[in-house]
Amino acid sequence: MATVDRKALTRWIEMATLAPSLHNSQPWRFRVDGDTVEVYADPARRLEVLDPEGREMIISVGAALFTLRAAIRAAGRIPAVAAFPDPGVPDLVARVRPGRIAEPGPDALELAAAIDRRHTSRRPFTAAVVPADAVDKLKEAAIHEGARLAVAGGASRTVIVSLGRAAADRLRRRGGYFAELNRWTRPVPGRLDGIPAHAIGPWDALERIPMRDFGVVDSQPSRRGEEFEAFPTITVLTTVGDAPAQWLQAGQALQRILLVATRLHLATTPISQPVEIPAIRDVLSDPRTGRWAQMVIRLGYGPPAAATPRRPVTEVLLAPASEV
Ligand SMILES: Cc1cc2nc3c(=O)[nH]c(=O)nc-3n(C[C@H](O)[C@H](O)[C@H](O)COP(=O)(O)O)c2cc1C
Repeated sequence: MATVDRKALTRWIEMATLAPSLHNSQPWRFRVDGDTVEVYADPARRLEVLDPEGREMIISVGAALFTLRAAIRAAGRIPAVAAFPDPGVPDLVARVRPGRIAEPGPDALELAAAIDRRHTSRRPFTAAVVPADAVDKLKEAAIHEGARLAVAGGASRTVIVSLGRAAADRLRRRGGYFAELNRWTRPVPGRLDGIPAHAIGPWDALERIPMRDFGVVDSQPSRRGEEFEAFPTITVLTTVGDAPAQWLQAGQALQRILLVATRLHLATTPISQPVEIPAIRDVLSDPRTGRWAQMVIRLGYGPPAAATPRRPVTEVLLAPASEV
């Protein structure tokens, strides 16, 4: 087996940090141990109000894990992943080793090329319909990761959008909600996490789409309103089961879907308010089959979105075990 140098591992970890995360909290850490990368959740970066269980934290780490896999694959190695390999260390989410050498196909190369082009878009999308073959590719991406992506038809779209609005209302009444939101959107020069003003986007003037309350000051929107698309393409990502293993699966599926969408020139917005209120999440889930809603994703065509900052790789790298 060809060895991998530390420089290559560090470069792949740096690519992994470009993954999406709740409020750009970047709740991950990595340790290089020989030719293995250990991927950890960073509970100090969990959002206490929105994410008491740490479900969205693990989804975010799952998105980083998928990105690491995609970077390794595009570099010509098959990544070998052990999820939650040590029950005694619950924050150790995965061990990843670049395995067998194998020429990457065009799909693997295009997926990795989308990593630094993928950004969350919070702008209005055009009325253009997402074509059926693009939807099929996104569904395949979910299935590839053991999850499922359902596209809401007319009636269910209306229901999901109104559930999203109801969830947003309930969150606004949750103690500490605005304080937490403001902590992660506060403009501080040189800040390398959180959501900068340029990424927040306009207010949905007709309040049709449950966009997150970023930029809210004293419960009043501080940003301009614009009209969003009347018939958004709304999808729901689900997994069978709802334990950390499935949250991790959901995160990997989320990032595969977002990268495939980026390749297809689709803009994307993860929308998580509907799955942050348990009673509303129950409505989107199917207890009979054990299928749980993990994330709502809005898709469409819109203006390009800009990148948000990331902490440098040196800040997310833990010291090698031998030095601890
Ligand atoms: C678990 C999770 C939940 C998210 N929820 C929302 C959301 O409700 N609304 C939103 O606008 N963006 C949401 N996002 C997107 C993040 O805010 C975004 O990934 C982060 O700010 C980094 O920006 P980027 O995606 O452009 O790299 C979510 C992302 C993840 C992984």
